[in-house]
Amino acid sequence: MKRSKIVMLQRSERPSGNVLIKGWVKTKRDSKGFSFLEVNDGSCLANMQVIVSDQLANYEDIRKLTTGSAVSVAGALVASQGAGQSWEIQSAQVDIISGAPETYPLQKKRHSDEFLRTIAHLRPRTNKYGAAFRIRSELAYAIHTFFRDRGFYYVHTPILTGSDCEGAGEMFQVSSLNMENPPKKDQKIDYAQDFFGAPVNLTVSGQLSAEMFALALGDVYTFGPTFRAEQSNTRRHAAEFWMVEPEMAFCDLTGNMELAEEMIKYLVSFIMKHCSEDLKLFARFVDKSLMQTLENIISSDFIRLPYADAVDILASSGKTFDYAIGFGTDLQTEHERFLTEEHFKKPVIVYDYPKSIKPFYMRVNADGRTVRAMDVLVPGIGEIVGGSQREERLDVLEARMEEQGLNQSDYWWYLDSRRYGSVPHSGFGMGFERMLMLITGISNIRDVIPFPRTPDSIEF
Ligand code: 4AD
Ligand code: MG
Repeated sequence: MKRSKIVMLQRSERPSGNVLIKGWVKTKRDSKGFSFLEVNDGSCLANMQVIVSDQLANYEDIRKLTTGSAVSVAGALVASQGAGQSWEIQSAQVDIISGAPETYPLQKKRHSDEFLRTIAHLRPRTNKYGAAFRIRSELAYAIHTFFRDRGFYYVHTPILTGSDCEGAGEMFQVSSLNMENPPKKDQKIDYAQDFFGAPVNLTVSGQLSAEMFALALGDVYTFGPTFRAEQSNTRRHAAEFWMVEPEMAFCDLTGNMELAEEMIKYLVSFIMKHCSEDLKLFARFVDKSLMQTLENIISSDFIRLPYADAVDILASSGKTFDYAIGFGTDLQTEHERFLTEEHFKKPVIVYDYPKSIKPFYMRVNADGRTVRAMDVLVPGIGEIVGGSQREERLDVLEARMEEQGLNQSDYWWYLDSRRYGSVPHSGFGMGFERMLMLITGISNIRDVIPFPRTPDSIEF
């Protein structure tokens, strides 16, 4: 017989004489003449209650089952008499697939997130992390659905790259040279002898490649791993994270902001609809105001605020911030959170940032000192989306590269797109993990990615 997933059995409309489940024992209780097993198979938060009669031939072994043991259970699916579940299994046969000794770290009690990070290989077996990673999977699916429904094509942009899209220099270098003794030429490492014949990094963004495809296929998006060697050891930065990057031809900054707002609302609604059981866990145990926050995101019009106005609001807020704020300084997390959490109490899109703090590819405004950049700020997190209208004018783009000390010959193919049929276009990047933090209320990025990569941490 084929095994049934517990999630499907929970949705049964009628009893069934014969079902088979396989999973792990969460708890066991013994009564006179029988035992109860709570079995979880990871397909959903709920366990299946299994009733084991002492008449089973291997009942003595079953009585010794410990938390974490793997079992296979065949029996009848019947309406449950007990509270908390609608179905249970009256077992006819329980096979022990393998035991789990008392050293199994996930005994029935609450564990701290910090402790669970030290056993990242086992934490998906807990209720909370199981729920988080099921939601993560659904959210990835929702992203593809959102874009596909709107006629966007999915582009796989490269992970190995020679260019620094963000110009922040926070890249991991990749090489097949012998690091102990690299070949040298004129006292410098001779990259001509390296695998690609040139220095190579892990990508910090798929944007430059995505732009080339938007200028061919119209509306496209990338969704893949992204790497940043920034030293910020914060609860919202990871060295390896996933980014969703739509790029649209014939689209200006307003259209870009509209898409970002629509996408965030769509993703939140999708998870509220399709993951309601898992979401309840977060609303109960992780963030009591979660549902209110999510409802607020879906129902409010995001504020659109020029950067200069944001600076004025911050400067006259009467708050003391750790970082001073004035025109030309970048917004720090504390500023972002003040705007979205305290001042407006809803998502805020800040746009038209000073040119001096933004990368070369953003379109320069008529004022000559700001660019068509936008960041979406949300409660609890701050920046969740960063994007811009791109500079489509070849001469302006070249001048910007000059200003930032970029070598035009390294970007000859990028500049070609401005030579041949250049059009206004826009796009943005959304941090996939930050979206998960928003949706679950989980406050540390390390807890929404299966095996987090952060400074000094690559155990698993
Ligand atoms: O604002 P960023 O740096 O924008 C870009 O990389 C653009 N090239 C995107 C584009 O226009 N196609 O990054 C975009 C988003 C941020 O808003 C944030 O949500 C997330 O990526 N992000 C990170 N998430 C986790 N850990 C980090 N270290 C992150 N850095 C950025
Ligand atoms: Mg940014």
